[in-house]
Amino acid sequence: MASLSPPSAVQGVFTDLTKTIGETSLVELSGLSPNPDVRILAKLESENPTGSIKDRTALSLIEDAEARGLISPGDTIIEPTSGNTGIAMAMICRVRGYKLQAVMPENVTEERRQMLRLFGAQIIDSDGEFGSNGAVKLARTLSAERDIFMPFQYGNPANPRAHYDGTAAEIIRDCPDIDVFVAGLGTGGTLMGCSQRLKEFRDEIEVVAVEPLQGDPVSGLRSLEDGFVPPILDLERLDRKLLVTNRDSILMTRRLAEEEGIFAGVSSGGVFHVCTRLAETMDSGTIVGIVCDGGWKYLSTGIWTDDLDDVEDLLDRSLSW
Ligand SMILES: Cc1ncc(COP(=O)(O)O)c(C=O)c1O
Repeated sequence: MASLSPPSAVQGVFTDLTKTIGETSLVELSGLSPNPDVRILAKLESENPTGSIKDRTALSLIEDAEARGLISPGDTIIEPTSGNTGIAMAMICRVRGYKLQAVMPENVTEERRQMLRLFGAQIIDSDGEFGSNGAVKLARTLSAERDIFMPFQYGNPANPRAHYDGTAAEIIRDCPDIDVFVAGLGTGGTLMGCSQRLKEFRDEIEVVAVEPLQGDPVSGLRSLEDGFVPPILDLERLDRKLLVTNRDSILMTRRLAEEEGIFAGVSSGGVFHVCTRLAETMDSGTIVGIVCDGGWKYLSTGIWTDDLDDVEDLLDRSLSW
């Protein structure tokens, strides 16, 4: 098993940007809880260098492949992702000297394309109609045909391991009295890695997955009804799966900014909508939710400024995975 480099600085200086990944803040959202006896805390993964939790995943995938001798600087890597993983991987490839080909649906937001390009990634378009599943299929084909290494975050144990070693370990250290953990379901990496570590620490900690309603996509999250269950996902490790609508996710994304000053992406709105619902049903306790990414990549959708119906309509049509 490859070991990850934890965030480390020698005399306050990090030797490169990838060393700053992780060690994110845990912040109480005191105004959000509908129950005075339930604390809701946010783990701010938006603090990572490219602004999302996927910096942890991408670093873990690349370091694991390096440790297994599958890649070395100068090589090309291919990955199906339009979203945060692609951006994180592009940054890490830049720092470590790899070339990245990102396969993504043609209808992802322009901010994401720009971010991938600015880190030097080559973008390969897949048919927008088939969403992220289409990108997965095309990347698989190209990887086999061209003999290019594909980390494949959906099936690679190095993805959940990033959260076992990092995200969950930090939560346990910073908030040992955690009762409930809530995260969005994308590849399942965050939920699987955190569930394993949290339950080893205290089996009663409840692990809750946030899933979008089928046909009502929430950027970054995946409905298992859409026909692809990521191989790393073991549903047995989840205590509950709660569904959110895009509208509720947007509304909570706005509340996070208005009431708590937190500028987060829409999937975080879904997560904290679920956190408030759970708080209503609990007598007392502590809930930790994940702010998966910052809001920068969603500005063009008008989430914080435009009419709710227009925003919802635009988000339904643009895939941001
Ligand atoms: C914005 C956003 N939220 C949540 C997730 C879910 O994370 P995971 O893939 O670890 O399940 C993702 C995954 O890409 C994401 O991009």
